[in-house]
Amino acid sequence: MNKEDFPIFLNNKNLVYLDSSATSLKPRKVIEEINKYYNFYTANLHRGDYDNAVTVNKKVEETRKLVKEFLNAKHEEEIIFTSGATESLNMIVFSFMKNILNKDDEVLITKTEHASNVLPWLVLEKELGIKIKYIPLKDDLTIDYEQIESMINFKTKVISIAHITNTIGDIRDLNKIKELIKNKNIYFVVDGAQSAGHIKVDLQEIDCDFYLFSGHKMYADTGIGVLYGKKELLERTLPFKYGGGMNDTYDLENYSLKPLPYKFDAGTVNISGILSLRAAVEYINDIGIDNISKYISDLSYFLYESVKDIENIKIYNKNFNTGIMIFNIDKIFSQDLSVFLNKYNICVRSGNHCSKLLKDLILVGNTCRISLNIYNTKEDILKLKEVLNKQEEIYNNII
Ligand code: ALA
Repeated sequence: MNKEDFPIFLNNKNLVYLDSSATSLKPRKVIEEINKYYNFYTANLHRGDYDNAVTVNKKVEETRKLVKEFLNAKHEEEIIFTSGATESLNMIVFSFMKNILNKDDEVLITKTEHASNVLPWLVLEKELGIKIKYIPLKDDLTIDYEQIESMINFKTKVISIAHITNTIGDIRDLNKIKELIKNKNIYFVVDGAQSAGHIKVDLQEIDCDFYLFSGHKMYADTGIGVLYGKKELLERTLPFKYGGGMNDTYDLENYSLKPLPYKFDAGTVNISGILSLRAAVEYINDIGIDNISKYISDLSYFLYESVKDIENIKIYNKNFNTGIMIFNIDKIFSQDLSVFLNKYNICVRSGNHCSKLLKDLILVGNTCRISLNIYNTKEDILKLKEVLNKQEEIYNNII
């Protein structure tokens, strides 16, 4: 579906790109939007009074409105542009949570979280003495929701989980979690790095306190992301950075900050990134988010059925429908296999996928990961199957 929208395939007709969880390819519409900004109306944001500057101001604020609608957030000022999911999570932890959490407060996460949803909490564990508690997972590595209730006590202050994990590809039941923590004064943080642009996200329905994602995994440029927070919480979140653009006034002794969302915009923001996000959201809206999810889900099924019987393959997440599959070929180091696949123009990620606690669960530190997107086709998967079936070559070349 939509392969022709992605110019990279014109330049490399044999490319089989199966690494979209690392970063998605960029549609022509996004690339053109970035080029337009540089070719026709370059200017800084909120700093100039000439035509091009006014155009930039207008387009950036239109993007904020578009993202607000895309996520069904309540208020435009709840949409903060950041450099990506990692910066957003760091802002939540170090500019909000650090100021309200105390020693022995408990934060619930899982062992299948990405590093950016583990490390900041580990830092707070060392700095403040908070305690990280790991929600038990079932045999298929999905959340054991029944166990969450018994973990919650008066010290539980935060639950912070991925909407879709970047290794297992499971979609978390956020409604169930919302019910479990209802009226318990627990902050609910959702890492949407793998869900935004992949499945429908309705923040008023999810009702989480913070949600965040990176643009580059949903067709936008790198270096742009979003932090959503409920307005009253963002009001209480301190800026991460101070400088031009975010202050109302200052003198030799005092300063005052701009209101939301501008108090977070210190320095020149990633303007071309924001504009690329606008084009990416428009692109997704044109196709329809449900069509995207269905296409990837159907292709996930085809992928699993195509490769499950390949000799010596071990697939670690069998119930995926989000296009993410981690696997190994017996006795072959995952990175060697990905280098081998590269010989055939097949791009996959190998290693721990920035999810270093996963090895406790699957008992292996490194895997190959396939991650699909709308430009992938059944032909891509059949090519992968063909190459993975070259077992003699794999074992002769690699071992
Ligand atoms: N977080 C990205 C991934 O899962 C880089 O590959």
